[in-house]
Amino acid sequence: MIKLIDLGAEYGRIKSEIDEGIREIVEAQQFTDGGHIGRFEEEFSKYLGVKNCVGVSSGSTALDLALLALGIGEGDEVIVPSFTFIATAEAVSHVGAIPVFADSDYDTQNIDVDKLKPLLTGKTKAIIPVHLYGNPCDMDGLMDFAREYELKVVEDAAQAQGAVYNGRKVSTIGDVGCFSFYPAKNLGAYGHAGAAVTDDDELAEKIRLLSNHGRRTHYAYKMVGYNYRMDSIQAKVLSIKLTHLKEWNERRRKLADIYTESLKDLPMGLPKRDDDKIPVYHLYIIRTDRREKLVEWLKERGIETRIHYPLPLHLQPAYGHLGYVEGDLPVSERLAREVLSLPLHPYLEEDKVHTVIESVREFFS
Ligand SMILES: Cc1ncc(COP(=O)(O)O)c(C=O)c1O
Repeated sequence: MIKLIDLGAEYGRIKSEIDEGIREIVEAQQFTDGGHIGRFEEEFSKYLGVKNCVGVSSGSTALDLALLALGIGEGDEVIVPSFTFIATAEAVSHVGAIPVFADSDYDTQNIDVDKLKPLLTGKTKAIIPVHLYGNPCDMDGLMDFAREYELKVVEDAAQAQGAVYNGRKVSTIGDVGCFSFYPAKNLGAYGHAGAAVTDDDELAEKIRLLSNHGRRTHYAYKMVGYNYRMDSIQAKVLSIKLTHLKEWNERRRKLADIYTESLKDLPMGLPKRDDDKIPVYHLYIIRTDRREKLVEWLKERGIETRIHYPLPLHLQPAYGHLGYVEGDLPVSERLAREVLSLPLHPYLEEDKVHTVIESVREFFS
């Protein structure tokens, strides 16, 4: 069986570091404090080149807090891609605002900056670009657009730890960047965790307060907040794994390049690699209108695949009340019909990548 991702293989390589780190916390009974969270926040800020990092309970809560801290709320509209994981849009709904779904670019699978203007209304307050699959969005165009119309920008970098756009790590370009450290992410915790990052000290302070019951001191509350804090075991695991992230992302790029080089003559879409972007291949995605048959073909050969994502958000029942119909966002709908994720993780052996390549080539022959 060739797995899509293999967290067990990763654990095998860093077992002694992880076991020791977790034991240290359990023995000291420092489950929610002990400086581990602050340490990770500092290390991650330094890695990204950003002033502030607030560790939180998940990528979803990071997005919620970013919008709350920016003052987005009831009656506001926020532009989000339809072709993404639902948490991007849910955050908008959680603060009482309305998600306005934008179509994506077929080649990059990211929000199509050229299609944003018609979505603007007097209520538009923000835009959430998602660096989908670890591939940076066209941030220059997006930031120009946001500045022209005075929109806040929250980067959803949940899938893009370490990805670079024009020399800057994604998440540090907009007003706030949000990360998920869901276990399967390039930098993954051993449970749920996330972070919000920003150069704006005031915004960071607000996010921190909101994430911790609006608490100034132990029983003094400045505002009504939430318990969206990160815990110590997650912070420790993330600190350990962060020291490996550069090498892991490089390995992902190497394997992705092997896929691309070996599949490029086949009649299907492959990830596009622009000169101004360094992607981190959270997922390696191909596009084909023969997807269902290919899934079966690979499954019969012991190769695991998955579809990220089979239905765009504007057609999800959860957003039925917004009144979108099929055909409204044709590129998102086409991507949902065609995308397929092939196995990719830092500990995937090259001979297994070649087995996948041979099976895909055989399918198209
Ligand atoms: C693009 C995107 N945004 C947000 C999230 C939410 O992150 P979490 O699962 O940590 O809440 C995810 C995670 O799966 C994601 O892929």
